[in-house]
This record gives sequence, C-alpha cells and structure tokens, in this order.
Amino acid sequence: MTGAELLAAAVRRLGAAGIEGAPRDARRLLAHALGVAPERVSLILPDPVGPAARAAFEAAVARRIAREPVSQITGGRDFYGRRFRVTRDTLDPRPETEALIAAALERRFGTVLDLGTGTGCILLTLLAERPEAEGLGADLSPAALDVARGNAAALGLEARARFLRSDWFASIEGRFDLIVSNPPYIAADEMAGLAPEVRDWEPHLALTPGGDGLDAYRAIADGAAAHLVPGGTVILEIGATQGPSVAELFEAAGFARVVILPDLDGRDRIVVAET
Ligand SMILES: C[S@@+](CC[C@H](N)C(=O)[O-])C[C@H]1O[C@@H](n2cnc3c(N)ncnc32)[C@H](O)[C@@H]1O
Repeated sequence: MTGAELLAAAVRRLGAAGIEGAPRDARRLLAHALGVAPERVSLILPDPVGPAARAAFEAAVARRIAREPVSQITGGRDFYGRRFRVTRDTLDPRPETEALIAAALERRFGTVLDLGTGTGCILLTLLAERPEAEGLGADLSPAALDVARGNAAALGLEARARFLRSDWFASIEGRFDLIVSNPPYIAADEMAGLAPEVRDWEPHLALTPGGDGLDAYRAIADGAAAHLVPGGTVILEIGATQGPSVAELFEAAGFARVVILPDLDGRDRIVVAET
C-alpha cells in the first residue's frame, strides 16, 4: 500500500472512533512511523510503505484510538520552536503556555526558578532565549525531573539548568530574578469532564491540586517573596476563571503590582506579580 492509501484508511478509522482532528493526527503518526518530519509527509505519500513502517503506523493508530495523546505515542512535542520529550509522567506542553514565555521575555532576568517544571519546557525555553541566564527547575515528580534533565541535555542547556525535587518551595534555597510556574490548576470537580486524552493519560499530579484548584497558587504566593530578589517578578499561568482569585492571593501576600493578562482570545491566562 502507498502512504496515501494508509493515510486515508487511518483518517477514516480515527474519525469513526470520534478523534477530533483525525487528519492532522494521522499525518503526524504516519510521519513518525516513516521517520520523516510531518511537513515532508506529502512528498512521500505516493510511495509504497514497507512492512515495518506499516506495522508501526498501524500500532500507533490503535494507540490513538485508545485515546493516547499523539505526543506520548511519538514521544515528543514542539514548544516555542523546540522539541521536548514527553512521557506519561509529564504534561504535554500546551501552546497556551507560550503566552507565559512571551510575558517573561519582556523582562530582564539573569536567574529564573520554574516551579512544577514537568518537561522543563518553560525553564529551558527561557534559558535558550536568554543565553546569559541560568535557572532551576523544580518538581515533585522524580520521573518528570528525569525527562526535564534529558530535555536540557538534548538542547545543550545542561550547564545552565539545574533540577531539584521539591514540594513547591520546600527544598528551594536562594533568591531569583524571576519565578515562573504553570502549576496544576484544575478543580477536583472538573476532572471528570476533561477529554479522555487528558484525564486518562496525563499525570493527575500535573493537572489538579485537588479541591478548588487554587492550592498551588496559595503555596506559591506564600513562598514567593522570600525567594525573589528586590524588584523580582512572578509570572503564572492560570485557568480562565481564576484571575481575580490568584491576583487576590498575591496582593494579600504583599505584592505591590499584580496584573492579569488575557490571551489572544481575550481569556485570562497569565498573572504577573511584582514586588
Ligand atoms: C501543569 S504541569 C506543568 C508542566 C510544565 N511546566 C508545562 O508547563 O508544561 C504542573 C507540574 O507541577 C508539578 N507539581 C504538582 N504538584 C507539585 C508540588 N507540590 N510541588 C512541585 N511540583 C508539583 C507536576 O508534577 C507537573 O509537572
């Protein structure tokens, strides 16, 4: 069979299984099975596909039908123009989080702390964009920290990126110019309504702190001032309805200027708190 025939059959199977974006996913899975970049798949669609690549593609399509995210099947995700390894122990980096990167890159910083680093996508992107900066990525999950360390090495950033297991600030020493975090923020009673790709495949530690979804912000607001240099800044990703509550936590913790920034669709997405 040619790549085009395999692709068409996979789009039909994924569509029948209710997978949104079936053509896009089928193309990415075929590219992975063939070992080519997704944008090059069109060039080789007319060619016959060998038995090994076909078996790999069929296996990948079966995994997707079981709702496994494409990033976990292919083992990676592009974020801010760089490739990050993704596993079942890490949150799949989201395009929304690029808004946090944009807000951070508007500021000057030499040292950065990333709380709940996951794949390391936030910390490592900031260090790659600021070659003079160095930083620390912390996470409660040792398995996620292993992935982040591997991503640092793959991006040639291991000399400027350290990683540490810590329950928010509990094991963090020192002060930083910038503290960033995309913490778990889904409320416990919202978990059942998530897409199966998220609810059944991504680590619950990365999705929800339980309760009302604000506990991670409470911990970060409590400890941030003691870990910032004078004039330092905290930049956080938030859920779209959480802006006022998170802003209030930082105002109560004594931060002088707290602003809520919307994303391009006008939904609250970022809180910036300055000392
Ligand atoms: C929403 S994910 C964000 C991952 C990554 N920073 C990103 O933006 O893709 C939240 C991360 O916080 C970590 N985490 C959860 N509870 C934590 C805690 N108490 N202390 C430190 N990290 C925690 C999770 O393991 C997960 O990696």
